[in-house]
Amino acid sequence: NYYAIIMAGGIGSRFWPISRTSHPKQFIDILGTGKTLIQNTYERFLKVCPKENIYVVTNENYTQLVKEQLPDMADNQILTEPVMRNTAPCVAYGCFKIESINPEASIVVAPSDHLILDENAFIAAIEKSLQKAAEHNCLITLGIKPSRPDTGYGYIQYTDQTIGEDFHKVKTFTEKPNVELARTFLQSGDFLWNAGIFVWSAKNIVAAFNSYLPDMHEIFADARSVYNSEHEKPHIHKAYQQCINISIDYGIMEKADNVYVLPSEFGWSDLGTWASIYDLSEKDYVGNAVIPAEKVIMYDSSNCMVNVPGEKLVILQGLHDYIVVESNNTLLICPRDQEQNVKQVVADVKQKFGTK
Ligand code: GDD
Ligand code: MG
Repeated sequence: NYYAIIMAGGIGSRFWPISRTSHPKQFIDILGTGKTLIQNTYERFLKVCPKENIYVVTNENYTQLVKEQLPDMADNQILTEPVMRNTAPCVAYGCFKIESINPEASIVVAPSDHLILDENAFIAAIEKSLQKAAEHNCLITLGIKPSRPDTGYGYIQYTDQTIGEDFHKVKTFTEKPNVELARTFLQSGDFLWNAGIFVWSAKNIVAAFNSYLPDMHEIFADARSVYNSEHEKPHIHKAYQQCINISIDYGIMEKADNVYVLPSEFGWSDLGTWASIYDLSEKDYVGNAVIPAEKVIMYDSSNCMVNVPGEKLVILQGLHDYIVVESNNTLLICPRDQEQNVKQVVADVKQKFGTK
């Protein structure tokens, strides 16, 4: 009764210029491991459930990429969205469809673009959660010990009240707080980062949509008669136009009162930013991280992140704490602590040149 849904319809805009609207980061081998992030994600779930029970929800524009990168997936397991509406509709589509196939399903829902270093610990945490979700009326999320007041994450305040020792009742869930709030959370010590990996029974998530996003509940419950038929795609594509744009975090996790967190440690990284890649990369003795390394010469430069693939020779002189990234005919040079501005850059580039 175990199922997995991989969310793969985001555009990863903070990772520009490598991650593009036409080729977002989940489809890229960002760390040079020989496999893309979504391939790694899929392979991890193969160890948790049978391959027929793994679904990908993605934008229509990425269907071809999913098929190329995950050739073992049947068409029926690739759910497509005609428009981007954030993660709540994506979760609803996947979970309502699975519920229509197997009302007793326990489902793990995960992003397609994270790095997980300790695969065994990850699999153990997921299996434990799937089992718990089948027994209890709860929505489970995995929590990671926070190390900085990052404003790109959800923060979970947990209590001592537990089910089965490890699963702590969540007191508050705050999606993407401002930096002052994030700092207080960090200091208080009873907060975790939301890893964005959720586990629940089909029944309980459907009930949560009914309580907190009733319109969306109606849209995907109405589709029950068409799931797994030739009418599914046209019906759903029409229905999506009616969905509001909201993430599962804002739409349900912040509001639900039966949320539990499993504090976890499995070498997790969101890989959301160049800073996170820099943190994970091997660095030389003055803190320069260079991928690939052959064609870069540095003089008096430190703590730089350089990623310029191809034939180009790159020379850095007297540069400290910078990101130098080239991809898709675009060169980005940016102080490491100002990369949050890249989101704005992407919007501006789109406006000026009509591309991303
Ligand atoms: N199918 C589909 N459709 N997938 C989507 C869409 C969509 O419209 N939007 C985003 N996704 C996918 C992304 O590709 C990614 O794999 C996953 O859903 C999460 O979306 P992000 O856009 O990366 O979310 P986030 O990183 O800002 O925030 C979430 O993850 C954090 C941890 O990395 C939240 O859950 C936070 O609370 C959490 O801390
Ligand atoms: Mg993310």
